[in-house]
Amino acid sequence: MKAADKQLIYTLLKTADAYECGYTREKFAAEPVFTDDAETPQQEMTVEPIPTMTDSSANANSGLTIEELNAKILRCTRCGLARTRNNVVPGMGVQTPDVLVIGEGPGHDEDMQGLPFVGKAGILLDRMLAAIGLDRKTNCYIANIVKCRPPENRNPLPDEQSACFSFLETQIHILKPKMILCMGKIAIEKITGQSISINAQHGEFFDYNGIPVMPTYHPSALLRNEQLKRPAWEDLKLFKKRLDEINNN
Ligand code: URA
Repeated sequence: MKAADKQLIYTLLKTADAYECGYTREKFAAEPVFTDDAETPQQEMTVEPIPTMTDSSANANSGLTIEELNAKILRCTRCGLARTRNNVVPGMGVQTPDVLVIGEGPGHDEDMQGLPFVGKAGILLDRMLAAIGLDRKTNCYIANIVKCRPPENRNPLPDEQSACFSFLETQIHILKPKMILCMGKIAIEKITGQSISINAQHGEFFDYNGIPVMPTYHPSALLRNEQLKRPAWEDLKLFKKRLDEINNN
């Protein structure tokens, strides 16, 4: 505190004291001399570090459970989607999943319920997964590239995807899925960092830090175009074959 401020407070207190007690401190003590306090360094604004998979030490030390991470995600205000969402949709599933399924972002039903893939596309997704022995209640985790609904179901913007991506990276780090299934172009492009044609490259295997990743058609695309169901089914069979190999090794 500055000497001038201390002096001001002292004078105010002395006046109040004199008013109450009818005497002044001068009767008992010499007037004090005030000096400036030593400068204390301004506390730095701390920004919570966002661990990324490229920063392995940050991840190794993140030490979070999936519930703790998801609790952080629920409080996120990193991008503009925080202003229009009803609920954040961190993800759902088992804690040690065989498979992580990644979608694009919550739609209307997901935004209202705070859960991923619970609308029409979600019902179809659950049927696709069940066809290859996968279920969010027993061996899968379902998450999205962005955790909040883009208004009018538009594609999440690159900035929104980037703001959210470290959450997904950390989810992958914690969950350690054996395989990843990307539903649609946005999910596979963000996970691989490559430009990908879903028509040409669905059913191919990619790598994410040692985890096999396959893109297939998004269930919403299958709802719009029945003809895509056959190739999606072929993708799922290949995916299941690889998972069986991993599980049997
Ligand atoms: N579409 C997605 O990509 N994710 C959801 O959670 C729901 C629909």
